[in-house]
Amino acid sequence: MLIDWNDTLVLGDARIDEEHRELVMVINRLFRALEQGADRDEVCDVAFTLGEQVTQHFNSEIELMEASGYPGAAAHQREHKRLMEELGAALHRIGREADGELLKVASFIEGWFVIHVTTADAQFVRFLNDTALQEEPLPASW
Ligand SMILES: [Fe+2]
Ligand SMILES: [Fe+2]
Repeated sequence: MLIDWNDTLVLGDARIDEEHRELVMVINRLFRALEQGADRDEVCDVAFTLGEQVTQHFNSEIELMEASGYPGAAAHQREHKRLMEELGAALHRIGREADGELLKVASFIEGWFVIHVTTADAQFVRFLNDTALQEEPLPASW
């Protein structure tokens, strides 16, 4: 199944949302390539791109967390580490498994992504937006 880019995935931070949207595009490309029976080299190329893009995205979130003083940064970073291990294992399987198993791997990656975005990332963006609200200057008449 392709991931549908919808409101549940839009968290309300322009940079994070854009990076998530790009990740959804790569995950969907991977899914389509597998579904259409693209050759293994092509599939592995997309898998490689996904690994790279997730690494960059995780780094950019951690940067934002540090810059904003997010108290959940360490826990979030631990979750990213665990997620990278899971993704690494899934991408590794893509290079080796029989064709019939590959769509299951792609479905795993979809769930893996959507769950993190709608839980841990959503919590971070709520913090970012709450902090931004508190830092807004009072109107001049105050
Ligand atoms: Fe994220
Ligand atoms: Fe994250």
